[in-house]
Amino acid sequence: MPKDVISILDLTRSEVERIFELSTLVERALKRRRKLNLLDGYTAALLFFEPSTRTRLSFEVACRKLGMDCLVVVGEAATSLAKGERLADTIRMLDSYADLIIIRHPKDGAARFAAEIAESPVLNAGDGAHEHPTQTLIDLCTIKRLKGCIDGLTIGVLGDVRYARAVGSLLKGLTLFSPKKVYLISPSFLRIRESLRIELKRRGLNFEEVENLVDVLPELDVLYVVRLQKERFPDPELYEKAKGSYAVTREILEKHAKSDLIVLHPLPRVDELDLSVDSTRWAAYFYQASLGVPVRIALIAYVFELERELVELAREGVS
Ligand code: NCD
Repeated sequence: MPKDVISILDLTRSEVERIFELSTLVERALKRRRKLNLLDGYTAALLFFEPSTRTRLSFEVACRKLGMDCLVVVGEAATSLAKGERLADTIRMLDSYADLIIIRHPKDGAARFAAEIAESPVLNAGDGAHEHPTQTLIDLCTIKRLKGCIDGLTIGVLGDVRYARAVGSLLKGLTLFSPKKVYLISPSFLRIRESLRIELKRRGLNFEEVENLVDVLPELDVLYVVRLQKERFPDPELYEKAKGSYAVTREILEKHAKSDLIVLHPLPRVDELDLSVDSTRWAAYFYQASLGVPVRIALIAYVFELERELVELAREGVS
C-alpha cells in the first residue's frame, strides 16, 4: 500500500488491477447515492501550479464525493510562492491543514519533493514532462474495460512522445503488463528521451520507434494520441517545425485501421486529432475522460485503505 503515488511504478500490477475493480464499485455505488462520504470531515489540498481542466475538476469532484473539504489553489500567483516563499515551506504548512495533497507542478520532480516533505499522502497530478500517474490509471482502465485485457495488445503512441508526461507514465505503466508490441510514432526530433528509453528496455517493454502512422496503423489495437506539448519545447523554432507534423483523421482510420481499434487521447487536443473522428466507432477518448472521477475516487479510497467500506457501499441494496 503506497503512501504516495508519484510514479505509476509506485503501484504494482495487482494494485493497478485492484484500482480498476474498485472504480467499477465506485460507479455502482454512485448509481445509488450522489455522495459516498467515506472521508467525511477530511481535507484535501489541490495545488495546481499549471493549467488543468479535467485533472483538477475530476480530482475535486472525487474528493467532494468522498465527503472531503477541498482547498484549491490555482497558479502560483495566488500563493506566497509569488512572494518568494519556498515550495518546501508551502508544502510543510499545507501538510498541517490537509489530509491529502494533490499537486501539479511545471518542474519534473516537484511532486516527489513534496512527498518527501509531507506526512499526508501526496498524489502527483502531473510534474513537468515527467509523470502523470493518475492519467495512466485512467488510460489503462479504459483499455482494460474496452479490450478486456492489456496483455497481448499492439499499442501505438502517436505524437510528442518526448515531452508528454502522459506518455512517459503510460509507457512505464505498460511495463507492468505484457503488451505484444508498442510503437512510438513521432517525427525523429520528438523521440523519447534517452533516460526513458533505457528504463523501458531495462524493464523489458517490447517497443519500436517509427515515424509514419500508416505503416503500423493496420496492426494496432489501441492508438494513443497526444498533442505537441508547446509549453515544454526548449525553442520556438523547433515547435514551428513540429507543428502539423502528425494528425489522425477519419479518412486515415477508414483506410488503414482495424474495425475494433480504439483511439485514446488524454485531452486537451489541438489539431492532432481531427473532429471528424469523434463520431466514428474508433473514438474512445470521451469515455476515457469520463473515467476520471471513478478512477480517482478508487485511487483515493485505496490509499486511505477504504476498500472494505467501498465494497459494502457497492453491495447496498443488492441481495
Ligand atoms: C495531460 C497533461 O496535463 O499532461 N492532460 C491531462 O491531464 N488530461 C495531457 C496534455 O496536456 O497534453
